[in-house]
Amino acid sequence: MSDTPTALQSAGLDRTVVLVGLMGAGKSTVGRRLAERLGVKFVDSDTEIEAAADMTIPEIFERFDEQYFRDGERRVIARLLTEEPCVLATGGGAFLSEENRALIEENGIAVWIKADLETLWERVRDRSGRPLLNAENPKAILSSLLDARYPIYEAAEIVVKSKSGDPHEVVVDAIVAALQNSGHLTAAPNTKE
Ligand code: S3P
Repeated sequence: MSDTPTALQSAGLDRTVVLVGLMGAGKSTVGRRLAERLGVKFVDSDTEIEAAADMTIPEIFERFDEQYFRDGERRVIARLLTEEPCVLATGGGAFLSEENRALIEENGIAVWIKADLETLWERVRDRSGRPLLNAENPKAILSSLLDARYPIYEAAEIVVKSKSGDPHEVVVDAIVAALQNSGHLTAAPNTKE
């Protein structure tokens, strides 16, 4: 399932922008807005996996296992990277796979939305639907995921920071500027709504 662009001008994006980062970084919210600015479609890999399996992510983890989910994730990312450039928000674990990283490096532009623990926690604490945090001390889990994953996310071509209280538009602006500076856009992006 993907959001098709409205009658927006395309900014001539040369590759798919792949948003990576921990749960709560704002990948989906930022991604949707970024896609509008670039005049391309927005796709969320979690949503694609859910549609293909006809199950929610918690159901997939419960009925099968994490590996089953990761296989679906890998297939979705590989397929989307062969299609026309879009903005792709990935689940927080997707970039950990060496195979996914190599595919993204070859065919896309990895953008890490980096946020600190408190910012992430604020955004995920009241939300369900994240099986990895479905435990007694979800904040401690989030913290250990941060320690384990941040050195890997460092491999992203572009890194932007998201701070608690900052509107998501600030992150969108930073990504657009980085894409322009690195020559990935051949035309001007759309103006903000
Ligand atoms: C996961 C993050 C989730 C989802 C799944 C596993 C992870 O996506 O893919 O629950 O490993 O961090 P979000 O990062 O969009 O919450």
